[in-house]
Amino acid sequence: MEPRKRAGHRGTGPGAITPDGCAVELYARLPCGAEPDIVAGAVPAGAHILELGCGAGRVTHPLLARGFTVTAVDESREMLDRVRGARTRCSPIEDLDLGETFEVVMLASFLVHAADAGTRQALLRTCVRHLARDGRVLIQREGEDWHTNLPRERVDAGGLTVRIVSAEPAGDGVNSVHAEYVFPDATWTQTVLSRPLTKQQFEDALAEAGLRVDRCLTADRTWVRAVHADAGG
Ligand SMILES: C[S@@+](CC[C@H](N)C(=O)[O-])C[C@H]1O[C@@H](n2cnc3c(N)ncnc32)[C@H](O)[C@@H]1O
Repeated sequence: MEPRKRAGHRGTGPGAITPDGCAVELYARLPCGAEPDIVAGAVPAGAHILELGCGAGRVTHPLLARGFTVTAVDESREMLDRVRGARTRCSPIEDLDLGETFEVVMLASFLVHAADAGTRQALLRTCVRHLARDGRVLIQREGEDWHTNLPRERVDAGGLTVRIVSAEPAGDGVNSVHAEYVFPDATWTQTVLSRPLTKQQFEDALAEAGLRVDRCLTADRTWVRAVHADAGG
């Protein structure tokens, strides 16, 4: 059965669209950036990584090529069909219970900015449920001015223009963020609900789930490493 569309999320363009508005064909085309370097600098070589919201494997495949083992989770079967070389599981992250723990859990792609606080807690509890005692959670946050420094765009070498067009208030501190991805031969759009989080709100959400920030992994503080709140060190 197809998962239910997530409220406030939508996407347009060729091919299948996931419940949160991602286009499968788009994510299969998007190039990977610095993510594998960031991960490799923050976790033990060859670690087994639980990747939550893996999409079409944009980051999964380079991680596998670097010698990591990856268990890749997504609620979209069409996304998972693009993933090669990883164990996959089709499930909402909120409901995931694999009955095992991992050295590394990844919650990337700004999923921690879920509009609904209950959803965010469920995502973080899944991270904790699957985290080994001395394990690490890698979380990707939005940059501090991402909802105000608009519109902004970047053009990459492959002829892709990514344009973050607007972030319109949608009530209760949540914004509706609209993005366009323009290739020479196709255009996709995605609209998502996103709740900006101050450093304090982010750390409070982690604490509520039993996690604490261990260190920031990037100068812009968008990637952080977290550990069990009661872990030593
Ligand atoms: C923006 S895409 C990013 C995919 C991949 N992380 C990347 O960077 O290319 C987000 C992915 O997470 C999945 N996703 C979003 N929320 C989810 C949830 N609550 N449970 C399971 N999958 C989710 C979507 O289906 C989509 O494939």
